Amino acid sequence: VDEVGQLRFNELIAADSRVEPTDWMPEGYRKTLVRQISQHAHSEIIGMQPEGNWITRAPSLKRKAILMAKVQDEAGHGLYLYSAAQTLGVDRETMFDQLITGKAKYSSIFNYLSPTWADMGSIGWLVDGAAICNQVPLCRASYGPYARAMVRICKEESFHQRQGFEILLSLMNGSDEQKAMAQESVNRWYAPALMMFGPPDGDSPNSQQSMAWNIKRFGNDELRQRFVDMLVPQAEILGVTLPDPDIAWNEERGHYDFGELDWTEFHEVLAGRGQANTVRVNRRRDAHEGGEWVREAARAYADKKADKHAA
Ligand code: ACO
Repeated sequence: VDEVGQLRFNELIAADSRVEPTDWMPEGYRKTLVRQISQHAHSEIIGMQPEGNWITRAPSLKRKAILMAKVQDEAGHGLYLYSAAQTLGVDRETMFDQLITGKAKYSSIFNYLSPTWADMGSIGWLVDGAAICNQVPLCRASYGPYARAMVRICKEESFHQRQGFEILLSLMNGSDEQKAMAQESVNRWYAPALMMFGPPDGDSPNSQQSMAWNIKRFGNDELRQRFVDMLVPQAEILGVTLPDPDIAWNEERGHYDFGELDWTEFHEVLAGRGQANTVRVNRRRDAHEGGEWVREAARAYADKKADKHAA
């Protein structure tokens, strides 16, 4: 242990300052960040698939253009996050390899299928809504490159959430079939979106240490509660019912109560047995392998340029 480094690190954390790539940091801190940031990057990249599924079938040119832009934003988020992780000494090829060999975790939510157009609304409203709740506090994470990447990501994420809400609002103002499609989709996405926040605090091995290091600012349960509190009034505006009969305002707590989630399902999805785990990883592997010729050409070009400079 570098004692001077450790002291300086402790001071930075105590002062709620930022740790930068050139600062000394404990190995555990570095590892936790690589784990969380790479999982986050993978989630953005895999998260392109459930929506990419609808680009060719979006119901209008306008919806198609919006959806395409949104999926591109997600690719961008993945790239900022891979860059942030690289500042911690892990290279991109290693992270890609972990993802396509199925070793890396990414958000459970992207292992669910998106069979209807209304799912584009639910993903925006619920999935991106949960992502914002979880990610706004990460803009104050102690690791500088991560926190800075999160600022831009959150701005785009809040636009994504509104576009999802607006898709559902249009459907809820439409025909009976459209209303039913919106409700059916919300029924499927609601609980998985709540699980995005991670296991209950008592079963979350990383939370305490991550909070002590100012990486996470709140526990998983507190953020989940915030999310439910935000959703209830929005669901009223939409006219959709949240599929949980236990949702009720609790005057004493000043929050909405809500029912237990099915954590067995969560663990099944994490273990690779969700609806689409295999499809998602296979698709990513095919895309990666199919793109080999582009990387090869880029390398050849870079080499050629370097030779020219050398000459
Ligand atoms: N999906 C998949 N894995 C999860 C999920 C989830 N929804 N929630 C928790 N886990 C995993 C954790 O990664 C951890 O696994 P590991 O120790 O093998 O790495 C394990 O379950 C235990 O959970 P925690 O101890 O609570 O883990 P952590 O402190 O990392 O908290 C959380 C999990 C809240 C997801 C945190 O990592 C985080 O805030 N990440 C950044 C946000 C993010 O990744 N969002 C991705 C989805 S949003 C989007 O892409 C649109």
